[in-house]
Amino acid sequence: MARVLSGTRPTGKLHLGNLFGALENFKKLEGEDAYFMIADWHALTTEYESKTKIRENVIEVAIDYLASGLDPKKCTIFVQSDVPEHAEMALLLGMIAPLGWLERNPTYKEQLKEIEGRDLHTYGFLGYPVLQAADILLYKAEKVPVGEDQLPHLELTREIARRFNHLFRPVFPEPKAILTQAPKLPGTDGRKMSKSYGNTIELSDGPETVDKKVAEMMTDPARKRREDKGHPDVCPVYFYHTLLKNPAVETVAHECRNALRGCVECKQEMAGHLKKFLEPIYRRRKDWEGKRGDVVKILEEGSKKARSVAQGTLKEAKKAAGIL
Ligand code: TRP
Ligand code: SF4
Repeated sequence: MARVLSGTRPTGKLHLGNLFGALENFKKLEGEDAYFMIADWHALTTEYESKTKIRENVIEVAIDYLASGLDPKKCTIFVQSDVPEHAEMALLLGMIAPLGWLERNPTYKEQLKEIEGRDLHTYGFLGYPVLQAADILLYKAEKVPVGEDQLPHLELTREIARRFNHLFRPVFPEPKAILTQAPKLPGTDGRKMSKSYGNTIELSDGPETVDKKVAEMMTDPARKRREDKGHPDVCPVYFYHTLLKNPAVETVAHECRNALRGCVECKQEMAGHLKKFLEPIYRRRKDWEGKRGDVVKILEEGSKKARSVAQGTLKEAKKAAGIL
């Protein structure tokens, strides 16, 4: 049984991009020795000026985890900052993480450019991948289910592990990323689904919201009139038909290519499949929303269990580095 670890930043409610990008694999791996974290320290690296309390989002993400079907009896769900060893391990790994590696990190450079209106020129944000390496290595995780955007961070984790093992002694295995079939999901505007673009469909969206968002979704931009032939391959709506395994997907493509169907009806058909897909998630979400006390308890127990593993590894790493 492989040790599995992954995490999600509690910057808001989770959306279909999170689900199809990574969360789907959390569920598949929950039967192994799996730890699913809510990375509140990581949220603070970019949200430190925000007025909303990160702790409130932590609960929302925990509910999203549970709504997506994770069973707390099979896997360990916990909050990063409830396990203080993450901070200490990040400090230790920071000693050996070359600045050049961090400054060259493509995700870092991209975010500095992309995220407007926030000052991300901080020590904490530069150290984001060091903290992530600490998260993964504290559990000696072999499998890390993540979205495609996390691959550079995972590569850095492997490099930091190798460097530690080489400088001191072999303590850490090198983790492997586990990707889904659809690691990149288009949002309602056709760009990658992301909270910062405001183009998400959330796990907590009810049927009316889903209908509304799908109705406003972008289609083949070249198809201006109903008589125009469409190109399903570039249409986000079509992508969802395939993703949701609409059995009539061939018909959808054929009718689109030959202008035999309109985008309005096409979207309505897709929304039907999407609502059916989301229905059990939505139902479980409502159920857990009414039991917030139980959610808090699940996190407390998860953190206790995670902590016992983390303490062992931290001790081993500190000994290897010669400060214990
Ligand atoms: N950086 C990840 C993201 O934005 C979240 C994360 C934090 C994570 N620590 C992790 C993912 C450890 C995997 C493993 O999605
Ligand atoms: Fe997209 Fe459907 Fe319109 Fe074709 S008919 S462009 S697949 S929404």
